[in-house]
Amino acid sequence: MSWLVTGGAGYIGAHVVRALADGGERVVVYDDLSTGSTDRVPDGVPLVVGSVLDRAALEDAIRDHAVTGVVHIAAKKQVGESVELPLYYYRENVTGLATLLEAMTATSVGRLVFSSSAAVYGMPDVELVTEDTPCLPMSPYGESKLIGEWLINAAARAHGIRAASLRYFNVAGAAAPELADSGVFNLIPMVFERLEAGDAPRVFGDDYATPDGTCVRDYIHVKDIASAHLAAARRLTDAPEGTSLVVNIGRGEGSSVQEMVERILKVTGRQDVAPQVTERRPGDPARVVASADRAHEELGWSAGHDLDDMIESAWQGWRHRHG
Ligand code: WQD
Repeated sequence: MSWLVTGGAGYIGAHVVRALADGGERVVVYDDLSTGSTDRVPDGVPLVVGSVLDRAALEDAIRDHAVTGVVHIAAKKQVGESVELPLYYYRENVTGLATLLEAMTATSVGRLVFSSSAAVYGMPDVELVTEDTPCLPMSPYGESKLIGEWLINAAARAHGIRAASLRYFNVAGAAAPELADSGVFNLIPMVFERLEAGDAPRVFGDDYATPDGTCVRDYIHVKDIASAHLAAARRLTDAPEGTSLVVNIGRGEGSSVQEMVERILKVTGRQDVAPQVTERRPGDPARVVASADRAHEELGWSAGHDLDDMIESAWQGWRHRHG
């Protein structure tokens, strides 16, 4: 198979590109370079610079590189920004996917792996979130991912596309320092930034109904996210027409903010620092932890990297970037 990876020059995409290439798949990166970087594209992998809103450019890339499947990662992904700019998120994430599906059907490309998100669940009130837990997204970002899944299901039914929507939980870490996330939008890099500035890391609320009062999440190494894409790509290769899977990609293990901050302080050698508990951040669910059963059953995949691996590799990446 030959896979077009949209967003392949971004943080998650660059890891997926390497996992596919290492797994023996042919790969072409398609990226508008709005947040991606050419440095992340490995030697020998073609890069097509283009937007997912540009159907003609997508079809050209598919034809020029004899593409037989797409891994669609390109998207806007900041929850807060999506509340400020909902129309922009709907255009990039929903219209972008619809345009890609049009390009795929026009060129008879029949396999798609889609980056979805645990954000589709909103505030799930369950110990472990299964794929059958009701989806009640709390932001335009989460809505755009859920609508994306609906679009894909409809296209699978109508056009026979074989698809897998992967609902990522909290992605962290890096396979190499230069591949680390450059954004400071999530807990681990936000703690690094505070430490580097000489400030105490913040814990947004310690009065949740969780064992230590802080929010619990399912953190997953980006290398595991990448291997899940390879597993999904292989699963789709021989799947019957119209197959449309929805799969959680998490470890199935919860970690609290307090536990995470303590581990980060240990890895960075800053156990002298005392975290500062502040107000709750609006919109944060108390607990979001995956059931990883379906990923195991459907994809034969499970996570192999632990929290220290995520934090240590994220820290190496931070130091690489910030000197
Ligand atoms: C984790 C926990 C914070 C910073 C978001 C999106 C989700 C997905 C991943 C894209 C929360 C707490 C954070 C800090 C803190 N994104 N926190 N102090 O909110 O679980 O998920 O990113 O696909 O859709 O919603 O991730 O890393 O922002 O926060 O206490 O300085 O850490 O309140 O409980 P979140 P996060």
